[in-house]
Amino acid sequence: MRKKLVAGNWKMHGSLVQNKELLDAVITGTAGMRKGSCVVCVPYPYLSSVQSMLENTQIAWGAQNVNQFSKGAYTGEVSAEMLKDFDCQYVIVGHSERRSLFGEDSHTVSLKFTASQNSGLMPILCVGETLQQRETGAMEKVIAEQLDAVIDQAGVASLSKAVIAYEPVWAIGTGKTASPQQAQEVHALIRGSIARHDEGVAADLTILYGGSVKANNAAELFAMPDIDGGLIGGASLIAEDFVAICRAGQD
Ligand code: 13P
Repeated sequence: MRKKLVAGNWKMHGSLVQNKELLDAVITGTAGMRKGSCVVCVPYPYLSSVQSMLENTQIAWGAQNVNQFSKGAYTGEVSAEMLKDFDCQYVIVGHSERRSLFGEDSHTVSLKFTASQNSGLMPILCVGETLQQRETGAMEKVIAEQLDAVIDQAGVASLSKAVIAYEPVWAIGTGKTASPQQAQEVHALIRGSIARHDEGVAADLTILYGGSVKANNAAELFAMPDIDGGLIGGASLIAEDFVAICRAGQD
């Protein structure tokens, strides 16, 4: 049985002082929730302090990106092994901001996915279409290309140690949420396309929805049969909201 998951993506936000305040409130607010059902993906420089604050709590932590190589002359980059040094359990790969602003293509994303798994990290693989792609009927093809790059590279079985996040680009940071029905439709499509490779993997796969998930819409999104939780941007920076979303994501 797949379990629900709520992951916060802090993006490039926070400070030592703000993080402590936020996490103190989130730790208190999520007391008693299932261990590992809430995750925060934080900027690299804060991994050490976040690790200190979260170890021995119910909250897991991770990063927002990783380099595909294990080591070498790659100035400014961070390897999966380095993330493991800080006991990260998760890493986001292929976020649409990485794809569109930093030129990551699906092949690179698939290498990052594999590098993460090789180091024992659980990749959160992001897929999703732009508004233009949706409106021109290219959505299915775009998402298939993003998924197939990983399946071709790593094999479908690799998805049993990963999470997928469906994040329609038009819903990210815009306040425009996909309706529960719209999101469900794409989640079912993703699960169905994986089921064509392996039904068991598809049935057990956690598929998160991301894109303007808020405290007031999380419960109805997460109630859909193929939506197994959320990847949360803006609302993960507000303790009360993130806690409410985590509560909505309890099984
Ligand atoms: P928002 O929740 O701010 O729309 O961001 C979604 C997202 O990109 C999470 O990765």
